[in-house]
Amino acid sequence: MQNNLRPESMERITTKVLADAFIEEQVKEIRAQVGDKKVLLALSGGVDSSVVAALLIKAIGKQLVCVHVNHGLMRKGESEQVIEVFGKELEANLIYVDATDRFLDLLRGVAEPERKRKIIGGEFIKVFDEEAAKLEGIDFLAQGTIYPDILESDGVKAHHNVGGLPDDMAMELVEPVKLLYKDEVRVVGEALGLPHAMVYRQPFPGPGLGVRCLGAIERDRLNALREADAILREEFDNCGLAESVWQYFIAVPDFKSVGVRDDKRYEGWPAIIRAVNTTDAMSATIEEIPYAVLHKICDRITHEVEGINRVLYDLTPKPIGTIEWE
Ligand code: XMP
Repeated sequence: MQNNLRPESMERITTKVLADAFIEEQVKEIRAQVGDKKVLLALSGGVDSSVVAALLIKAIGKQLVCVHVNHGLMRKGESEQVIEVFGKELEANLIYVDATDRFLDLLRGVAEPERKRKIIGGEFIKVFDEEAAKLEGIDFLAQGTIYPDILESDGVKAHHNVGGLPDDMAMELVEPVKLLYKDEVRVVGEALGLPHAMVYRQPFPGPGLGVRCLGAIERDRLNALREADAILREEFDNCGLAESVWQYFIAVPDFKSVGVRDDKRYEGWPAIIRAVNTTDAMSATIEEIPYAVLHKICDRITHEVEGINRVLYDLTPKPIGTIEWE
């Protein structure tokens, strides 16, 4: 576990057979490293932390304590899925912290994107620390570090690493997937029996919907964003785009325009569709969503989501537009 370099002889994990062999080997290693001690894990519900959780549950069961912090900026249904899969199905030792009010109160009136990111990242660490302090006898901290994180640790990702934990947590690290690439983590996740939708989840920024609810976050606009985003995901699922598009979401800016509904003036926010393809997130192209799908999404969002009166489609590649709006 101490070596941070992937041996050249290490075969790429592409099949269930290879994944099962990896899992068996890791289960042994984890048991040898941890013994009868307890391990703490910040479980965001993202691919990497979910796979690490499933692996540790298999290896050490209730000696793993998972903490899921809901910062109120999750996509619709995601915290619920964490509770369902880990709390109920895998019977994990799961601590669920609904910190929505804490985060949204701190973010009230804050419009500047980097300040929003700092507040969300800082508060995340605080909440996690508080939960850790309530627990006794934890000697290890598990992390979903993957190989690209090690390779790029001083690059772009460091700046984005909002959900990162401080270096000074006095616990030894358990990082069972740190030599794996993302596609391998997914194969391992499926071999561990995690739901397909969880294992193939899109990348989701640490600050979550906080970087998609543009400007100062207001609860009603955040809720509108979450609902519109859920409709986009549903329609992408229905037409098969969910399997092929790298990242897709809605952003909602903090201004309204005039519209009309039931013969009355109806002011609302626009919902902006972003759907991009990329290999490394450094540059990105636009997915050409069929017009019929766009019409359906527009129709559903404007009829079903309170407060949204227009749907826009962002056609800008990166560069010049970044993937996120903030
Ligand atoms: P940009 O917007 O820089 O995004 O083109 C590139 C990729 O990074 C993600 N992203 C973030 N991830 N914290 C994260 O963990 C952040 O603050 C953050 N900002 C952007 C973005 O979703 C895209 O995949």
